[in-house]
Amino acid sequence: MKADLLIFNIGELVTCASLGPKKGPAMSDAGIRKDAAVAVVDGIIHGVGDTDTVRRLYDAQEDLDAEGLVVMPGFVECHTHIVYAGDRLDEFELRIKGAEYLEILEAGGGILATVRATREASVEELVEETEIRLDRLMDAGVTTCEIKTGYGLDTETELKMLEAISILAREHPAEIVPTFLPAHAVPPEYRDGKKGNADDYVDLICEEMIPRAADWFRSENGLKSDERMNLFIDVFCEKNAFDLEQSRRVLERAKKEGYRVKAHVDQFTNLGGVEMALGLEAVSIDHLEATNDREVALLADSGAIGVVTPAVNFNLGTDDYADTRKMIDSGCAVAVSTDYNPGSAPCSSPAMAMAIACRYQKLTPAEAINGFTINAAHALGRGHRAGSVEVGKAADLILLDTYDYREICYEFGGNLVDQVIKSGVPV
Ligand code: NIG
Ligand code: FE
Repeated sequence: MKADLLIFNIGELVTCASLGPKKGPAMSDAGIRKDAAVAVVDGIIHGVGDTDTVRRLYDAQEDLDAEGLVVMPGFVECHTHIVYAGDRLDEFELRIKGAEYLEILEAGGGILATVRATREASVEELVEETEIRLDRLMDAGVTTCEIKTGYGLDTETELKMLEAISILAREHPAEIVPTFLPAHAVPPEYRDGKKGNADDYVDLICEEMIPRAADWFRSENGLKSDERMNLFIDVFCEKNAFDLEQSRRVLERAKKEGYRVKAHVDQFTNLGGVEMALGLEAVSIDHLEATNDREVALLADSGAIGVVTPAVNFNLGTDDYADTRKMIDSGCAVAVSTDYNPGSAPCSSPAMAMAIACRYQKLTPAEAINGFTINAAHALGRGHRAGSVEVGKAADLILLDTYDYREICYEFGGNLVDQVIKSGVPV
């Protein structure tokens, strides 16, 4: 049989194979195969097996000797805020000196500082800056990347962010999954009363922004046609951002428009967001630092993925990590993300996020890796196509400069990713 690419002599193939999301104890199995090979046809994985068998079955256009090293699925980064202008270096110093993240936001800085810079930037500037961040993620092994809006907070700028995402979807080799996040913070003109209050902003989101963004999702926007049907909405349900009722209004309205639900919940304050989001059949519920035992049990019983973002707690210098050990031990399907953004997590390294998850959230390397691959793919509704090395999935593969997969989480601050292959093509 003809193949376009055959990777052989793989010392450890980390397959992360699974019929659905990996829940609870299933997360400790990374699906390792020794001395394996993978055959790729038309960008799709066509054969997986031991080197001798696969080499006998396929006649490949290109052979790649993995020399006994580790091969695994490309990382699926399921939660980022990487379209923005400006930086937050002053805030970084303020926080070092003791200022709190939510205090800075309340005083008009934080997310709102990024909103000011993003409103002023052109689409071209946004594309240029975001491309650099996307390149960093891809160098670190990311082949599928979610990107949220949320630094526009007015219709025009939120659509400008989506336009930047369109250009990147056309030009960048990474697969991009957009999420609409108009309820990320209450914008300045709805704080000072010039245009009204937070509830008036929620009206604008419901009446104007959600339908306009839905039109964008369904247009010729650079995403593949089946992805154009995959609309995601997100909300920051938090003190000083959107309360439970405001968050529910946004998500309910979006759901009617055909969006699927994601939510930032319990990052600092438990407002009851887990139950609210589960009631709206959330695909993922993210952050979860202040989530209680009863809510962890509800999450475990649901089809939603709990996304944890340990680089945030590390970066904010706090020890209030989500109790991910309890989540997994209770049977939840957990995904791990960098939450790459200019404020709470300027982190472009999946390996770093996993290193923190292992040390501070007590995940094993296998759990962290399943969290950054198969479960993250399910957090984006892409479980059928990405996140594992299985026949029929996209040939998104990374070759690592190590003989033991656990080193991905053990080593930190560097980058063991040696080669990135997206849909069968070396990047
Ligand atoms: O996931 N918490 C809200 N949103 C982001 C941070 C965005 C920012 O600080 O600019 C997060 O942590
Ligand atoms: Fe976030």
